[in-house]
Amino acid sequence: MAVCIIKKGEEIRVFRYRRLGNSMPKEVRKFYSKEKERLERRIHMIERRDRMLIKDRSSEIAVVEEVFDKPTLVTLHYIMRSGDLRRLNGVVSTGKEARIYWGEKEDGSSVAVKIYLTVTAGFKKRLSYIAGDPRFGSVRHGSKNIVMLWAQKEYRNLLTAYQAGVPVPKPHAIKRNILVMDFIGKDGISAPLLGEAEVKESDYRRLVSLIEKLYKDANLVHADLSEYNVFKYGKRLFLFDFGSAVDVRHPLSREFLIRDITNVNRFFGKRGLKVYALEDILKRVMGS
Ligand SMILES: Nc1ncnc2c1ncn2[C@@H]1O[C@H](COP(=O)(O)OP(=O)(O)O)[C@@H](O)[C@H]1O
Ligand SMILES: [Mg+2]
Repeated sequence: MAVCIIKKGEEIRVFRYRRLGNSMPKEVRKFYSKEKERLERRIHMIERRDRMLIKDRSSEIAVVEEVFDKPTLVTLHYIMRSGDLRRLNGVVSTGKEARIYWGEKEDGSSVAVKIYLTVTAGFKKRLSYIAGDPRFGSVRHGSKNIVMLWAQKEYRNLLTAYQAGVPVPKPHAIKRNILVMDFIGKDGISAPLLGEAEVKESDYRRLVSLIEKLYKDANLVHADLSEYNVFKYGKRLFLFDFGSAVDVRHPLSREFLIRDITNVNRFFGKRGLKVYALEDILKRVMGS
C-alpha cells in the first residue's frame, strides 16, 4: 500500500492505494509531479532501511506543512500500514508544540492523532518533567529526542491512567512523534473543555475524586491540570493532555499536585462554587 497526503485548503486528505496496478486515485495521479514521485521513492527507501531517526537536517524539508516533515510522513505511513489509522481528516487544534487531527480507524471509529512538532524549542524547558522520573533513564541530547520521549511519555501516562480506570482518551498507538488515541467528541468536533462548559458542584467533586484516583490507582500526578485539559462530555469528565504527568515518586510530584489542585480550586472558585481547602484535598489524595 502507498499513502499520499494532499492538502486542499484547510483540509488534509490521505489516500491509500496499491502501489502496483491502476488503483491510484485520479486525484492522486493529478497531484503527483516529478518532485513528489522523487519524494515518495525516497520515503520508501528510508522506510526500507528502517532508519527511524534521520540525522540529516537537509532532509527535513516541509512537505505538506511544517508538521509533516519527511520523518513524520514515514511515521504516518507506518501507523497507517499497521492498521491503527485509515484516514486523517481536518486539524482540530494547532498548539505550539503539537497539532491534533481528527482521524479514522479501519473500523470507522474516530481517533485523535496528536503530532508533536519536531522543530520546536519549547521542549527544552520540559526536561524537568522527565529527568527525575525513575521510569525514564538518562535523556540524550537533541530536541528531537526530547520530543519523541515526550510523546512516549504521554502515551505511557495515558495507558497507565486508562488501565487504572481513570477516564482519559484510550491510547491506541505511539510511533516516534505521533500518538493515536480515542477521539472525545462527535463528528470531528472535540467535546467542550471544562472551561467552556457550565459547571456544577458535582463536577468539582468529581474532578477532585479523579485527581485522587489518578494518584492512588495510577500513581500519577497530572502536573498540567486546569480547565483547559479536562473535557466535559455530557455529564462525564475526561482528563487529557498527559505529556507532563509524572510518577508519584518524582521529587517534584507534590509541588505539581499542589499546583493542579490550586488551578482547579481557582477555576471553580471563580465560577462561584465553594471549594475544599487545599490542605484537606492534599491529605485526602496523598493519604493512604
Ligand atoms: N482525544 C482527543 N479528542 C478530541 N479532541 C482532542 C483530543 N485531544 C486533544 N484534543 C483537542 O486538541 C486540543 C489540544 O490538545 P492538548 O492535548 O491539550 O494539546 P496541547 O499540548 O497543545 O495543549 C484540546 O483542547 C482539544 O480541543
Ligand atoms: Mg492542553
